[in-house]
Amino acid sequence: MTSQGKTPSNPSPDSTTRLEGHRVSDSPWDKSALHGNPHQRPDKAQRVREMFTAIAHAYDLNNRVHSFGLDQFWRRRAVGLAHPVDGALVLDVACGTGDLAISFAKAKAESVVGLDYTPAMLDHARAKAARSGGRVAQIRFVHGDAHELQYDDGTFDIVSIAFGIRNVADPSKAIREFKRVLRPGGRLVILEFSQPPSRIVRFVHGLYTNHVMPWTATILARDVSGAYRYLPRSVETFLDPNQIAEQLFSAGFSKVSQHSLTMGTCVITVGRLAN
Ligand SMILES: C[S@@+](CC[C@H](N)C(=O)[O-])C[C@H]1O[C@@H](n2cnc3c(N)ncnc32)[C@H](O)[C@@H]1O
Repeated sequence: MTSQGKTPSNPSPDSTTRLEGHRVSDSPWDKSALHGNPHQRPDKAQRVREMFTAIAHAYDLNNRVHSFGLDQFWRRRAVGLAHPVDGALVLDVACGTGDLAISFAKAKAESVVGLDYTPAMLDHARAKAARSGGRVAQIRFVHGDAHELQYDDGTFDIVSIAFGIRNVADPSKAIREFKRVLRPGGRLVILEFSQPPSRIVRFVHGLYTNHVMPWTATILARDVSGAYRYLPRSVETFLDPNQIAEQLFSAGFSKVSQHSLTMGTCVITVGRLAN
């Protein structure tokens, strides 16, 4: 692999300052903010960052409990579909507390960078990776914005994003940016929640995500940000898998495949660039 041994350059020093803003509210996703389509709010980026700042301490616990432990299986599946061969350089965007980046490091990627715009999530990622030691401790967690990555064209073999594309303010701009930093032949792997195609499964899943999870998650996280009201609403109103695939083709990916997980509650989209 031509990129073996390369390490991507560091983030620009001004990225933190550029991304900070005024607080919107103690409850960024209160009922009024979720009344319409949260993806169309001009202040979505700020509300999302405040939400993740508020729930960072309980994010992993909530993931494990509310997915019945399946979330780590979904991430491992995404890593498998990315085919990280020896020497691969991986950028995991919207890495949050680092679970997908950690899975890539365990799969023997040469160099893994985890990037996120919420400092509190990155703090948890760094602490977790340091506790793991070995290859995982080598992951570099950096502050940055998915819409304006601080890396040169063609830097990475794999770009991944798990449960993040729904949270960025402008998904099509972010996808074009992922394409820019991938080398020819590189792969983009997107893991995201989806609406199950079966009406019965969708009904039961909707009851769980709209009426059970917001309560239990709020108790676990002692959250007042509205994160667990935003989650089902943001899934219902987001692009469906066909629209995500269309965005990849429009950005210049030549092949796109999709893999449905757990009765269609999640979908992994893999985009490949021509060599
Ligand atoms: C649901 S979490 C996913 C975390 C992790 N990928 C995982 O698998 O659990 C979404 C993450 O997206 C990050 N995020 C949202 N918009 C972003 C942006 N424009 N640039 C970088 N990170 C962003 C948030 O800070 C948050 O950590």
